[in-house]
Amino acid sequence: MRILGIESSCDETAAAVVENGTVILSSVVNSQIAEHQKYGGVVPEIASRRHTENIIPVVQEALEQAGMTLEQVDAIAVTAAPGLIGALLVGVNFAKGLALAKNKPLVPVHHIRGHIAANYLAHPQLKPPYLGLVVSGGHSHIVEVLDYTRFHVVGRTRDDAAGEAFDKAARAMGFPYPGGVILDRESQKGNPKAFHLPHPKVDGSPYDFSFSGLKTAVINLLHNAQQKGETVNVQDLAASFQATVAQILCDRFLLAAKDLGYDTLAVAGGVSANSGLRELLTKRCAQQGKALYFPPLSLCGDNGAMIASQGYYEYMAGIRAGMDLNAAASMPMDALDWERAF
Ligand code: KG4
Ligand code: ZN
Repeated sequence: MRILGIESSCDETAAAVVENGTVILSSVVNSQIAEHQKYGGVVPEIASRRHTENIIPVVQEALEQAGMTLEQVDAIAVTAAPGLIGALLVGVNFAKGLALAKNKPLVPVHHIRGHIAANYLAHPQLKPPYLGLVVSGGHSHIVEVLDYTRFHVVGRTRDDAAGEAFDKAARAMGFPYPGGVILDRESQKGNPKAFHLPHPKVDGSPYDFSFSGLKTAVINLLHNAQQKGETVNVQDLAASFQATVAQILCDRFLLAAKDLGYDTLAVAGGVSANSGLRELLTKRCAQQGKALYFPPLSLCGDNGAMIASQGYYEYMAGIRAGMDLNAAASMPMDALDWERAF
């Protein structure tokens, strides 16, 4: 079964064709990063406008690369939540038009479920149940992946998401948007033990995260130094920040794995590209004899292939959208209700 996946939830217009949820026949990602860079972050209206301009050529290229026509596609999957509402609506409307015109089934996909599915594209041996860590620009979840379409969130962030914390800390350190990637690169040149940063915990919720205090600690440290006329080695600060976030994520993820009895773990979302997180978690999982999966770097960020992959599993579970499908800026990943979410 070949599914066309369409993604437009943030600043990437993406489309891909995936066979049976696991084989990528094509994948095209048009990133708007360069344009948003001058504003220091994603400007929602600009994102929507660029999606509107780019969506047809991106989908056409994905079909061309797969050597297929739209008639040969078995279903159309689209990210319908969560994300920037104006951006999501472009993909949802376009997918609805295609489904209507070609009489194809339309499958709504939750973006975070899509991130998790990126691992099925690279690791066919990975099968639920397992414990997932999803760390992106908007989410930080520890989630039991009970089946391909059944999830139970056991830990979440109470404030900033991990990617958001990376981006805000990076901005304070003077790195351009998208800060997470640049902070990661700069931290390779720094000493991770140079600064001691807090490890904020959430009372009574051992698997939850709180990153805003950590971000504030970085901002205060920089302000204090500035007021005293001292210079801070930002590469050391970047390395210390990255090491702290990696440790917090690893500690809570591995604690949940131990308590809930999972020996198979998978990480997903933009922050799964982080070198510090990959290194620390790989080391600790090897010590504990746990199987660990990361998507390849090419599939960590937003892409259409992960949406097509999850779209396959949603389709197999009987999920279909009607022509009244809407988009939702937020929706829990473990309690989808496409009919009543809006
Ligand atoms: O999953 P994603 O592409 O989009 C969302 O669904 O949010 O995640 C984007 C986030 C951004 O905050 C970005 O800075 C972060 O992932 N990110 C990283 C790295 N690469 C991307 N954070 C830390 N280290 C990286 N290497
Ligand atoms: Zn994403």
